[in-house]
Amino acid sequence: MKESELIWMNGKLQRWSDSKVHVLTHALHYGTGVFEGIRCFSTSNGPAIFRLKEHVRRLFDSAKIYMMEIPYSFDQVADAIKETVVANKLDESYIRPIAYYSYGEMGVNPLPNKVDLSIALWRWDSYLGKDAEAKGVRCQVSSWRRIHPAIMPPQAKSTANYANASLAKIESLKAGYDESIMLNMDDMVAEAPGENIFRVKDGVLTTPPASAGVLRGITRDTVIHIASDIGLECTKGNISREELYTSDELFLTGTAAGVTAVREVDGRQIGLGRWPFTQKIIEGYSDIVHGRNPKYESWLGRI
Ligand SMILES: Cc1ncc(COP(=O)(O)O)c(C=O)c1O
Repeated sequence: MKESELIWMNGKLQRWSDSKVHVLTHALHYGTGVFEGIRCFSTSNGPAIFRLKEHVRRLFDSAKIYMMEIPYSFDQVADAIKETVVANKLDESYIRPIAYYSYGEMGVNPLPNKVDLSIALWRWDSYLGKDAEAKGVRCQVSSWRRIHPAIMPPQAKSTANYANASLAKIESLKAGYDESIMLNMDDMVAEAPGENIFRVKDGVLTTPPASAGVLRGITRDTVIHIASDIGLECTKGNISREELYTSDELFLTGTAAGVTAVREVDGRQIGLGRWPFTQKIIEGYSDIVHGRNPKYESWLGRI
């Protein structure tokens, strides 16, 4: 991790190395935290935080699902994120706000504990490896299923959900793949551990619906807008495992990973090994986040 200078913790900016929590922090033991991953991109008018409002809204929605009271207003959190970006003087960064049940009572019930909020950021360029952009990634369908909504809420971006995601990720990395793809309990494709998935077949783009147990990705929503702009039909629909294999193109979307082509799943090459539609989406995404598409200027949080 490329350390930056300052982290915002409970209302004040402090040095990166001083930003620590107690070992009996509730969230460390029971996964009782909710978080966001946001990116700040460089543009010709300076750094801009991409879709900040949507990310802060999802943070509050995740907290609501867990009956967690974030002790700051929506605007205070958005302002604190901007303040942290300005203070660290980075043109581009990955921003990680996290609200979590802190130190106090050590029972499973989190509610007696104080809720703490911190915002860290750092430079994080290639999430899926340096070659991912040029060559695409190799994926494995994981033996671990995406959490079912009757067990854990998949639409909450909670720290606990990432124990499930980590198991899939470890399995695929150990098997020599770059990333895993998780099916849900109905044997349909859900998503990757930290990305949504899209399939192109016969000129139509499909991504699993929220009811497949996916996080409602903000990059996913951005891609749906881009598809409409370039006249590519996009539907939300279930994708089976074999439909992954027979896709013309497949790609993953997420704040950390951006838009990344999948070149292989379980040893099967995807399509012809070229990804013209994905390339258009990648270009459209890059134009929007770097402020080169005036239509989406309102998505850029100027600081
Ligand atoms: C499980 C999961 N799905 C999808 C995504 C993509 O969401 P977004 O595009 O909002 O980053 C993420 C990343 O936050 C994720 O962790």
